Amino acid sequence: MTVIAIDGPAASGKSSVATRLARRLSFAHVNSGAMYRAVTWEILRQQIDPSHPESIEAAVHRMSVDSGFTEAGESFIRINSEMPDLELQTLEVNQNVSPVAAIPAVRSLVNTQLRTLAEKRPIVSEGRDIGSVVFPDTPYKFYLDASPEVRRQRRAAQGLHDSIEKRDKLDSSRANAPLKIASGAYVIDTSHLTLEGVVDKVAEILSKSGIRPA
Ligand code: DC
Repeated sequence: MTVIAIDGPAASGKSSVATRLARRLSFAHVNSGAMYRAVTWEILRQQIDPSHPESIEAAVHRMSVDSGFTEAGESFIRINSEMPDLELQTLEVNQNVSPVAAIPAVRSLVNTQLRTLAEKRPIVSEGRDIGSVVFPDTPYKFYLDASPEVRRQRRAAQGLHDSIEKRDKLDSSRANAPLKIASGAYVIDTSHLTLEGVVDKVAEILSKSGIRPA
């Protein structure tokens, strides 16, 4: 199993970096945040109160879930036969994903999908706890950061409404698998780097450990 773990706060550049790095290395890209968003979207779709952990837990136990890779090497998750895509970036999902992701049953569901996908192909996986909890034994761990101001600007440039500081606070203060720098992770501040610059930096570090484009 080969896993490159990329963690960091919201809008630190994880998704763009992970996507490009995966393409460069011919690895698959696994976006764990999209899985938490998909569960949140399904909870909202079922009109379950997102502030009621017991109801969410019961709904999670009833969910039929499967995941895999698209031909382009992107992970997908299907919940109760639905595969949300653009819906995952809506304001409603942004506002509710952190509390939903803090629920142990939700984390367990997502972690099972992530570990199953990693058995199938080498992956670049991004999230909050990929290097600390999901794949603690991988030697390839990165933590991307950027100043709150730069992160706010990035979201605005994407035309997305996102309460990133509120999410970061919730994501890093929860009891279960909080956002933190995994032991052994390379920390990269992306505030003043271009996207290609970050990908180059990560690729350079990986190449020293023998992970290179095929
Ligand atoms: O990466 P993202 O911003 O799309 O993630 C959305 C939310 O999902 C994030 O605010 C917290 C949660 N998440 C998590 O708890 N653990 C992960 N490994 C990835 C995301």
